[in-house]
Amino acid sequence: MARTAISPFPHGAAIGPAPVSNKSPDETRAVWLDAFRRVRAETEARASHLSAEDQIVQSMADASPTKWHRAHVTWFFEQFLLVPNDSSYKIFDERFPFLFNSYYVAAGPRHARPQRGLITRPNGEDVTAYRAHVDAAVERLIETVSPANAAHVFSILEIGLHHEQQHQELLLTDILHAFAQNPTDPVYDASWQWPRLRQGPPGFVDVPAGIHSVGHDGQGYSFDNETPRHDELIPKMRIARHLVSNAEWLQFIEAGGYTSPSLWLSDGWAVVQAENWRAPGYWRRKDDGWHTMTLAGLQPVDPDLPVCHVSYYEADAFARFAGKHLPSEAEWEVAARANVIADAFGITWQWTRSAYLSYPGYRAAEGALGEYNGKFMVSQMVLRGSSLATPAGHERVSYRNFFYPPSRWQFSGVRLAEFN
Ligand SMILES: [Fe+2]
Repeated sequence: MARTAISPFPHGAAIGPAPVSNKSPDETRAVWLDAFRRVRAETEARASHLSAEDQIVQSMADASPTKWHRAHVTWFFEQFLLVPNDSSYKIFDERFPFLFNSYYVAAGPRHARPQRGLITRPNGEDVTAYRAHVDAAVERLIETVSPANAAHVFSILEIGLHHEQQHQELLLTDILHAFAQNPTDPVYDASWQWPRLRQGPPGFVDVPAGIHSVGHDGQGYSFDNETPRHDELIPKMRIARHLVSNAEWLQFIEAGGYTSPSLWLSDGWAVVQAENWRAPGYWRRKDDGWHTMTLAGLQPVDPDLPVCHVSYYEADAFARFAGKHLPSEAEWEVAARANVIADAFGITWQWTRSAYLSYPGYRAAEGALGEYNGKFMVSQMVLRGSSLATPAGHERVSYRNFFYPPSRWQFSGVRLAEFN
């Protein structure tokens, strides 16, 4: 499967030790050291397919250069783990925090996001040296942290690892966007293939109605936005077993889906007009039919595969066209926990009709790390599941991804719901 080509992690492997662990302090250090090395190596493995020139380019404001991703995740460990917890740590380069802070206002001023692609220096080798410097310091901290401070240090380390995994996914989505702007149709990995889909009957399946607990259950890691766990009322409804396919999307196109304003939200129709959307992101019409950019380059659109690179606006319009709906994030989570849907994870993220809002009683933490999720809880929509670019072990049934409604450079797809 393609996942194994991209990720050395066994599917579903957790990053660190279980939260309630009977491991000795030395065993715990060894587990974190191993997790740290594996996550750091995965970033480099993904970047290794790319030239120095590839790693500089920023194809739009929303996407970042590979070199920036490699440095930013390193800055995260330097800023939030090393500086507060290792008094002997020396900042690698005093100019780097300005360049590689993303959006943490409390952590200081930062370079403008849309201009990340203008930074040719530090060059890639400088970033490699930065990574090595921070790697050595983090490994030293893991090995020497006092028992009294170990739990705190490992909790920040764990956030840093999950953060780096998020950027591993972005590294792929961002370089695919860059390659899609290149008339030579560059190939990221010639051996890349779509992950295998679960087989099974088509159609819709009941979601258990009633009051259900949703959100993270406290077992293992979660981001703060997955909490507090709380009750949601699930109505009588059904959810599609499978993701919407390219074949179904072609019907939408051929039926005039992109030229029928009655199918679209007003904001969505404005984007269709402004961007001249006539198909999902990266689709190109050629004499022999539709093609799409993939990590293996330009390929014919396979009607049996799930549609990918669609925005919330497109997902919503398609659902209306199909006489269906998008599930809410709670409905999706209850269905996934009940194990009634195929390909919940590892193929495409699935847009929900839920706005990205705080769960009841949520409060972001104090300080810069409190900026991680909470301050983005307006104007975006929630996606559930995970995608083919998500590092194995990073996905969770309570995971809440979120993007703005017009965004379609992620590996985002559609699962439908019906209420009658
Ligand atoms: Fe980040």
